[in-house]
Amino acid sequence: MIYKEIPFPIVCANQRCSMDLYVKIKDEYRLFAAKGAVFTEEHCRLFSKAKLKLFFLAKDLASAEESLDTHLIDVLTDPYVDAQTKVDIVYASSMNSIREVFTGTNLRTIGELEKMSGTIVKLILSDRRVMDDLINITSYDHYTYKHSVKVGIYGTALSINLFQDRIKDHNMAELSTAFFLHDIGMAKVPARILDKKGPLDSSEWDIIRKHPLWGHDRLMKANYLSNEATSIVLYHHERCDKNGYPFRKSGEEIPIYAKICAIADTFESLTSGRPFRHSKSPFEALKIMQAEMAREFDADLFRAFIMLLGPGA
Ligand SMILES: [Fe+2]
Ligand SMILES: [Fe+2]
Repeated sequence: MIYKEIPFPIVCANQRCSMDLYVKIKDEYRLFAAKGAVFTEEHCRLFSKAKLKLFFLAKDLASAEESLDTHLIDVLTDPYVDAQTKVDIVYASSMNSIREVFTGTNLRTIGELEKMSGTIVKLILSDRRVMDDLINITSYDHYTYKHSVKVGIYGTALSINLFQDRIKDHNMAELSTAFFLHDIGMAKVPARILDKKGPLDSSEWDIIRKHPLWGHDRLMKANYLSNEATSIVLYHHERCDKNGYPFRKSGEEIPIYAKICAIADTFESLTSGRPFRHSKSPFEALKIMQAEMAREFDADLFRAFIMLLGPGA
């Protein structure tokens, strides 16, 4: 049987266990709590004292993901959970979903991503304003939330990788914050469009295409990021072949960090699963981006992104 690790603590007294949970003792998996059981004080004491890692059966993946998402939202919106715990949980669960994407392709990539972006990502998430915005996204659409955090991690790692020796010339914390919040304007898109099961019609697409403007507006009003950072939000759907939106800018007119965001954004969308859409492996995603979208991206940045993800990808 295959077991998967739960990426963040989920044991709270008096809460019901949503799946069979196991602990690993000397290479053997033992049942910790059965589905439907209520976590007791004893469970909590054991869990925190022994710093136990919990596992679930791989066959339960779909239901596990759903209940972990619900649990994550509960924790993030709970005013009694401290900020540091929220940061740890967001980071652990996001790195875990990235790890899932790379399972079987390239473990080095995970190490590289963590090494490059870990410190700065945790720093950004500990900013109350950023976390509040992410929680706001979480409360109406957890796909956008997960996507935002992963694009934040990919964009940050690619930028650090590209500007290694000149990194001090850039305010990385601000730029990285904008990667995390690139889709913040989606908060203004009506739920009926976001939740629509079938394909969107042209007037609905027109509304979606406003999200870069809405997001930019919101960050300008919040007034804590530079113009360079907020332009990431405004231009992240512009494309080098002039087929992007909202302004159809050409390659030279698009700021470099918005181009980085476009690559991270597209890669994340292709590799993550959505209802009614299969996720692609990192290799397939890069192949599609290369074969069908190459003219949309800056060639040098795209090459650097492939190098970052490693030869195994
Ligand atoms: Fe977007
Ligand atoms: Fe996006």
